[in-house]
Amino acid sequence: MLTGKRVVLAVTGGVAAYKSAYLARRLLEAGAEVEVAMSDAARNFIGAQTFAAITGKTPVIDLFGQDLVSPHTELARWADVVVVAPATASTLGKVAHGISDDLISALLLATTKPVLFAPAMHTEMWEHPATRENIEKLRSFGYHFVGPEEGGLAGGDVGIGRVAEPESIVEELKRLMGAPEEPLEILVTAGGTREPLDPVRYLGNRSTGKMGHAIADEAARRGHSVVLVTTSGLQTHPAVEVVRVETAMEMKEAVDGVSPDVAVMTAAVADFRPADPSEEKLPREDGLDSVELVPNPDILASVVAREDRPYVVGFAAETGSVDRAIEKALKKGVDLMVYNDVTKPGSGFGTDTNEVTLIDASGEVEAWPQMPKTEVAARLLDRIVADVASRR
Ligand code: C5P
Repeated sequence: MLTGKRVVLAVTGGVAAYKSAYLARRLLEAGAEVEVAMSDAARNFIGAQTFAAITGKTPVIDLFGQDLVSPHTELARWADVVVVAPATASTLGKVAHGISDDLISALLLATTKPVLFAPAMHTEMWEHPATRENIEKLRSFGYHFVGPEEGGLAGGDVGIGRVAEPESIVEELKRLMGAPEEPLEILVTAGGTREPLDPVRYLGNRSTGKMGHAIADEAARRGHSVVLVTTSGLQTHPAVEVVRVETAMEMKEAVDGVSPDVAVMTAAVADFRPADPSEEKLPREDGLDSVELVPNPDILASVVAREDRPYVVGFAAETGSVDRAIEKALKKGVDLMVYNDVTKPGSGFGTDTNEVTLIDASGEVEAWPQMPKTEVAARLLDRIVADVASRR
């Protein structure tokens, strides 16, 4: 709940600023005390008087010339949490680079309290490499994000970049200000397995492990205890317990040794392995007419079948429509299936972004817009934690 929580609502300059009037009202309804700070640009879109009428307090609009001696530090210290809605590309860029040349950027650098950004901008700006890099940087500094969503943008454009709805922002703030997440034991499998033909060659796939590592890192950052069974050599958060494996059989053995609350199976496990891998490198001259394959165990199915079955998330990397993934979700009996079409640009193997669709145990579908894998990881964990909490 937000009862008695002191929220600074920082409004920066985008057309979505008008929605922040609703947000201010929702925050008050949720029991928060609200102080509004506005950038100059924000006042091109909505008047300070509007916020004054809603909150009963005059917004702070300048670093200089108002009653406060040091507006940015006073607001920074008063706040229990700062929410920046809408957050423009410019504000995100300033904070990512330590620039504090106006009220909002100075306030954001001055505060030691949690900050939630609700970005809003045109799709091109959101997808610009500079914005992408700034968001990564801000996340690594510990800033929180909600949205943006896909939908109508200024000037009739449609795409990703629409500010999160006030209700979603309030929900996210409640989560941030509520009790910390109950620490869970989380198992993540990641990467593509390599099934040896001989000591040099293997059957493999294109999975790099980026998605699974992003989930493991995010979970560790939130204080969960994480075992990551991976074929990938990617760096991980220091708190993650990493078990490196190569084959499906090794992965199965490692997974069998863990009894988690949650299992997130992102690994691309080879369905078959060579029946009899050679101990010596196979000489070309000998030829190789065929390779006998035997099926690998379905690791996910073995986890689902456990007596002390955890909350299980499967991943379905497909080259076709969501229907196959829905079928798979129901057949495999997972709590959540994350589907992506690996043929779509920016979605799938080796990319830094992903476009996923969630399918729950009843086959209900929720499509998410394309976003960085780090953000998919954060949103997915929100969902998992909420689901697990509601079952306890
Ligand atoms: O390969 P498939 O699309 O069926 O994979 C769906 C899910 O099952 C993924 O989460 C994958 O990690 C898991 N899986 C597994 N063991 C296998 C095959 C798939 O854990 N042998």
